[in-house]
Amino acid sequence: ATIALEKKIIVSKLGDNTTLSCIYRGRELHLKNLRVYWQIADDQEECTVVHALISGQDNESEQCIHFKNRTQLFWDRLENGDFSLLLLNVSQSDEHTYKCVVLEKAEYTSMVHQAEVVLSLAASYSQPILSGPISNSDSTGEEVTFSCRSGNGYPEPNVYWINKTDNSHLPPSELMIIPNNNGTYSVFSTLKVKATSNMQIECSIENKILHENLSANYTQQKQSNGSSTESHKNLKKNGRGAQAAGIISVVILIGILAVVICWLRRRNSSKLVSYTVCG
Ligand SMILES: *[C@@H]1O[C@H](CO)[C@@H](O)[C@H](O)[C@H]1NC(C)=O
Ligand SMILES: *[C@@H]1O[C@H](CO)[C@@H](O)[C@H](O)[C@H]1NC(C)=O
Ligand SMILES: *[C@@H]1O[C@H](CO)[C@@H](O)[C@H](O)[C@H]1NC(C)=O
Ligand SMILES: *[C@@H]1O[C@H](CO)[C@@H](O)[C@H](O)[C@H]1NC(C)=O
Repeated sequence: ATIALEKKIIVSKLGDNTTLSCIYRGRELHLKNLRVYWQIADDQEECTVVHALISGQDNESEQCIHFKNRTQLFWDRLENGDFSLLLLNVSQSDEHTYKCVVLEKAEYTSMVHQAEVVLSLAASYSQPILSGPISNSDSTGEEVTFSCRSGNGYPEPNVYWINKTDNSHLPPSELMIIPNNNGTYSVFSTLKVKATSNMQIECSIENKILHENLSANYTQQKQSNGSSTESHKNLKKNGRGAQAAGIISVVILIGILAVVICWLRRRNSSKLVSYTVCG
């Protein structure tokens, strides 16, 4: 009899525990008569035994060192034909196709079930940080540089620069994907564009496996009417600045007035007033 091969793809985040599923829904099986092998299906691996259950017992004699103490069957579910394997603390080196094979020993040994699980690893990128030219400097027409960075993601990301005024994609000037020691990636990209009076730039970091897009936005302060939050902040700052400037000019004015009055008095009656306020 041929046995249909189930094939599943699962995505796990780095460091998580993940379950590789292998469920037989046929007749009742007796654990004592079974051999369950979880192995790596990719040919090029030297060691392929991930977990083995022989005559109702875990057998570690052939288990690869890489999986020692990291695998568990669900003992309460085995009798129900659930041979799923819990793999602890997954890392990039666990990215394989795994095969579960269930053999039954009666008069002769036969395979009763098999399943394949493709394990893909992923890690979310951090919220990107976008920096651009100082918002209220008037650099219209000049070339300005934006930079965007993010980290701790897996696998390698896609980076998009988007002009939000027309949603067009802009080609990055520079794109660096830097591998970290823990197997994740950091990304750094720059964009050079001619400045306009109303720049709205978005940097987006895509993790294809997780279907995740994280983005950061830059909004140029509008020259006349500010409507974005950023220009609002600037207006506030400008308001406080104007207040301070007003106070300072009043103080200076009083100073000048005092000097002028003193000078006038001195000129009129230099001897009399010289010992008072004017010194
Ligand atoms: C594991 O299996 C081997 C043969 O594959 C056998 O010699 C050994 O006794 C088994 N160990 C345990 C603990 O069952
Ligand atoms: C597995 O765990 C046992 C007991 O906790 C320990 O002695 C052994 O060193 C561990 N093996 C590995 C490869 O971590
Ligand atoms: C998980 O695995 C990584 C290596 O891949 C190791 O550095 C870390 O200590 C492990 N964490 C636990 C809780 O075992
Ligand atoms: C992420 O954003 C890019 C650019 O806008 C788009 O092409 C892609 O389809 C998005 N991916 C997801 C998963 O939303």
